[in-house]
Amino acid sequence: MDQETFSAVDQFIGETIVEEDEGLRGAIAAAEEAGLPSIQVSPAQGKLLQLLVRLVGAKRILEFGTLGGYSAILMARALPEEGRLITLEAQADYAEVARRSIDAAGVGEKVEIRVGPALEALPGLEEEGVGPFDLVFIDADKVNTPNYFAWALERTRPGGLIIADNVVRDGSLADAASAEDATRAQRRLHEMLGGNSRVSATTIQTVGVKGYDGFLIALVEPA
Ligand code: SAH
Ligand code: DHB
Ligand code: MG
Repeated sequence: MDQETFSAVDQFIGETIVEEDEGLRGAIAAAEEAGLPSIQVSPAQGKLLQLLVRLVGAKRILEFGTLGGYSAILMARALPEEGRLITLEAQADYAEVARRSIDAAGVGEKVEIRVGPALEALPGLEEEGVGPFDLVFIDADKVNTPNYFAWALERTRPGGLIIADNVVRDGSLADAASAEDATRAQRRLHEMLGGNSRVSATTIQTVGVKGYDGFLIALVEPA
């Protein structure tokens, strides 16, 4: 098995069961044009996010890491009419690209982008009393994933989901001696959730157009 096969399978999935509409294609084109890194969720992963949004009947979503708005558009599309998504992005230029693509995709009314490091945005969200959230997607700076998770856990309703992307990191998640801060953070996240009765979680390893990685899904249990 190699990357070529992983990509070919994602291609086939895209040709059959995962549709990418004009708004999403536009977001990819605009991001590429603006020189943003091509690290958005794959179409197949994005479709899973949409299914999860629908399965939990989410109306309030929080996203860490907007990039060009690809995953935000996907999740916003899966929300009901009155549903809202707040997405946090550190880079003002990325947020501008995302704003245009989100509006062009027709979900502008549902999506609010907050610019700045996510950790600095959280006290403001807190003060405004936003939430509780039905679904939180953590996909920003990986070293802070455990911090974002801890914050989200206090603000996600029982029955809601917290999803963290990029936790497997080419398998380095299993390496207790890893010197990578991003990997150590994912190990800490798993250790933090082990034995925590507030969540029931699992991590799924993935291959595809984005190589070998994986995501963690946690269902929030009643307090
Ligand atoms: N969720 C997006 C991909 C996000 S990529 C999608 O699937 O379409 C990660 C993003 O997190 C990048 O845009 C990066 O600029 C942003 N980021 C990095 N550090 C951050 C921080 N401290 N706060 C908020 N966003 C951050
Ligand atoms: C990177 C970030 C992501 O969210 C991702 O899914 C893949 C790569 C990165 O920062 O390199
Ligand atoms: Mg990611």
